[in-house]
Amino acid sequence: MVQNDDILFEPFELGDLTLRNRILMAPLTRSRSKQPGDVPTEMNAEYYRQRAGAGLIIAEATQVSPQGKGYAFTPGIHSEEQVEGWRRVTDAVHEEGGYIFLQLWHVGRISHPELQPNGNKPVAPSAIKPEGAKTYISADSGMIEIQTPRALELDEMPDIIEQFRQGAENAKRAGFDGVEIHAANGYLLDQFIKSGSNHRDDEYGGSLENRLRLPLEVVAAVIDVWGAQRVGIRVSPTGSFNAMEDADPVTTFGTFAKKLDALKIAFIEVVEDSFQGNHVSGRPEAVIEAIRESFTRTYIANGGYTFNEAKQRIIDGKTDLVSFGRLFISNPDLPERFRLGAPLNEWDESTFYGGDERGYIDYPKLSDQST
Ligand code: PHB
Repeated sequence: MVQNDDILFEPFELGDLTLRNRILMAPLTRSRSKQPGDVPTEMNAEYYRQRAGAGLIIAEATQVSPQGKGYAFTPGIHSEEQVEGWRRVTDAVHEEGGYIFLQLWHVGRISHPELQPNGNKPVAPSAIKPEGAKTYISADSGMIEIQTPRALELDEMPDIIEQFRQGAENAKRAGFDGVEIHAANGYLLDQFIKSGSNHRDDEYGGSLENRLRLPLEVVAAVIDVWGAQRVGIRVSPTGSFNAMEDADPVTTFGTFAKKLDALKIAFIEVVEDSFQGNHVSGRPEAVIEAIRESFTRTYIANGGYTFNEAKQRIIDGKTDLVSFGRLFISNPDLPERFRLGAPLNEWDESTFYGGDERGYIDYPKLSDQST
């Protein structure tokens, strides 16, 4: 048996919320929203209800606009029907005493004309093809290579900010407890931040200050809706997924963290390691330290953590909270299993993206498994 009085089970003050434990559910794309319309369903509500024992659920990446969509079956937060669908999800989590934030998403270049309004080309900071990046546009499309995007015009930036602001407002109406801005994993805001994907020569590119401009303007707009205490952000400084590269992640993300600290947002969630690709092996300690030194509020570590590593990193002061992805897919009652030192269900990668209730809401809880 693992000890009961472990640090992971102590409550934690995140902004003005008191989380019941330090075991968070990471945002996870599962591609199971109702079509057409990208609307959250009863089945999605049941999935999140089962996982409400997390200290905080960060719900899956959710497009803030039709332009922000990059994969088949992902949910949105731009229509009334979607807001109503998400309301069923947040009600379910709240009934179980949990908290849930929504992850606000614009994919930028990681999309396909068939997923875009009027069959348009996907947009990006610069017209650079993400070599080897892929998406899927239907259940039977297979993985399709991403093509060269269209560079956003300078006068389109206010609309991008407005898409996030409106998404934040809709998330509030849907009953979420807060929002996480998706600035990770090679999607639009990450494309602006990193030097490999942003070759602009206007005020939104070039210098580091310019590359950080759009993400910071988005954060400010979202704070206007929610207040800084209910806003977080996700970054992946060394992630290579979706053909990402930054020439100097320590400076880039240390600087970004300092500016985010000045805006007083509640947390930064850092993808330290990704099964989808990373430039470093192991955790990028120099980047982690730079962010930790520059950002005075909550740090959330993510990426292939085990229970023991999570505990050790908190004890060592390297993180405050830890978010778990794949372990939460296969273990709806993950905190309870950790607390008891119980065996963990294994995840089935073939059911991560798309499909029905199989591999989604049928992973057993401990109470289903005991005789
Ligand atoms: C994915 O659909 O593969 C995906 C979505 C959002 C992420 C990462 C991966 O942040």
